[in-house]
Amino acid sequence: MSRVTCFFRVTRAGPLRVRFGRSSDSDAAWALLYNAVQTGAASQYTQRERNAWAPSPTPPDTWQRTFLTGTCLVATNMVGRMQGFMTLGEDAYLDLAYVAPRQMGKGVAGFLYERIEIAARNQGFAQLSTEASHLAKPFFQRQGWQVTARQDVIRNGVALTNFRMSKTL
Ligand SMILES: CC(C)(COP(=O)(O)OP(=O)(O)OC[C@H]1O[C@@H](n2cnc3c(N)ncnc32)[C@H](O)[C@@H]1OP(=O)(O)O)[C@@H](O)C(=O)NCCC(=O)NCCS
Repeated sequence: MSRVTCFFRVTRAGPLRVRFGRSSDSDAAWALLYNAVQTGAASQYTQRERNAWAPSPTPPDTWQRTFLTGTCLVATNMVGRMQGFMTLGEDAYLDLAYVAPRQMGKGVAGFLYERIEIAARNQGFAQLSTEASHLAKPFFQRQGWQVTARQDVIRNGVALTNFRMSKTL
């Protein structure tokens, strides 16, 4: 995908554009992540776990670099408000996948993932990996990924369960 390309689709979340993320998106992306964790993940993770995962509405110092690493795609609505984002590192590790809570289950991540997988194939990646939350596991399984391990990761002193997953392209 050329750096200037953007893609358009009408989803159950309404019409969406997918484009590359930029530094000016960083604050909105962190706010979306914070809400996705604190509200969107509430069915699967306790308040204590969610606070460890996303402790503050203010991004950490490392956030912009993490967000913009590798292929960073954001989905916006027609007035430019971010609805979700996904990132794929140079190491074929799919790091971030977050959707605004009120848009969950409406195909936002599906659209982002379709473009990320095309970008991965264009970069010649043979296998993708990720560590998926309880919510992301069924999403990735639907995209043809396999669970390779269940694990507890320590985040800010709290154990969070997630799933190592991979997909051969
Ligand atoms: C995981 C997440 C990114 C998925 O985004 P989404 O936009 O809700 O996913 P989509 O609507 O595009 O789902 C696509 C398909 O995956 C399936 N799917 C997605 N989430 C699912 C879930 N929790 N359970 C079962 N199936 C699910 C749906 O069947 C859907 O298929 P359909 O389009 O035919 O209905 C989103 O739920 C989220 O942000 N969760 C909170 C934060 C989080 O856990 N992030 C992942 C960190 S690893």
